[in-house]
Amino acid sequence: QKAIAVMTSGGDAPGMNANVRAIVRTAIFKGCRPYVVMEGYEGLVRGGPEYIRECTWEDVRGWSSEGGTNIGTARCMEFKERAGRLKGAQHLIEAGVDALIVCGGDGSLTGADLFRSEWPSLIKELKETKRISEDDFNRYQHLNICGTVGSIDNDMSTTDSTIGAYSSLDRICRAVDYIEATANSHSRAFVVEVMGRNCGWLALMAGIATSADYIFIPEKPASSREWQDQMCDIVAKHRARGKRTTIVIVAEGAIAADLTPISPKDVHKVLVDRLQLDTRVTTLGHVQRGGTAVAFDRILATLQGVEAVNAVLDSTPDTPSPLIAINENKLVRKPLVDSVRLTKSVADAIQAKDFKKAMALRDSEFVE
Ligand code: F6P
Repeated sequence: QKAIAVMTSGGDAPGMNANVRAIVRTAIFKGCRPYVVMEGYEGLVRGGPEYIRECTWEDVRGWSSEGGTNIGTARCMEFKERAGRLKGAQHLIEAGVDALIVCGGDGSLTGADLFRSEWPSLIKELKETKRISEDDFNRYQHLNICGTVGSIDNDMSTTDSTIGAYSSLDRICRAVDYIEATANSHSRAFVVEVMGRNCGWLALMAGIATSADYIFIPEKPASSREWQDQMCDIVAKHRARGKRTTIVIVAEGAIAADLTPISPKDVHKVLVDRLQLDTRVTTLGHVQRGGTAVAFDRILATLQGVEAVNAVLDSTPDTPSPLIAINENKLVRKPLVDSVRLTKSVADAIQAKDFKKAMALRDSEFVE
């Protein structure tokens, strides 16, 4: 009987609970023993039955409709060091876990990929320092790992949609609709800052869905002069046609052409100074991450959970560790290592101000 553990890691995302539920129940259905690792990588580093817990079918009852993650999550500094990963490997082996499914964003899956690639040297060190037996060393030669992408940011390459992104988008759109009503009453402008880290997906999609007047995203930096002139032209035109509201969406990672951040405060100042608009700033913050998942995320999380267990059971020592993605409405298994590398090369290209390359990489399957 295989023992399959699941953990959630990084920022929580609506739909993570549905993913855990599907993994636990599919594992049981397939005759395996399911485990949950509490508090993300933190739980792996701490180890023991408090953090690596065996689960029953009933434990995850009703989880599809619950927001957040009931097994906890953390951004764990210790796991970023080899010493932390060594403890993690020891604790997984002590718990008798054969396979680990990680539901998290690009940082968490990069950690998972590193753990996988280091595994042979970690278990060698554990054997040499007598922290695991010779038998365990032989039994746990291969770390069977699989990623499902849970993040509101939708910033992972090779998958069209991450678990939680559409729920967060829905929350942002509702909030902007509420703001629109008060903006209309006072004929005001609102600068709305949305999450997404270095990715503009949430801001762009929310801007389209709410017919915002102007949108700032990290992927399309402009010089201060350019964005100020363009934004003021557009807003002035809309106002001249009788529009009583102005909505400007700013992604939290928005940057100018010289890579300096564009803050909602900068945008506020321009709207006030150049257009004399009565302007307010609204930072939506963590409301964007909380609450229940929309139907799409629940379904995506459930299907990907089932597929993750299937992938783990199909895996051989020669199969690359998979990431469960969705491409053009179909679930697909991608090599985790490629998805992580491609995601990193997009970030590197943005850092090097090579936006053309970043865009081409984001749309491609090509891995440098
Ligand atoms: O990655 C998800 C995310 O919500 C980002 O959009 C945001 O930048 C970050 O996490 C916020 O992190 P924290 O909850 O640790 O403040």
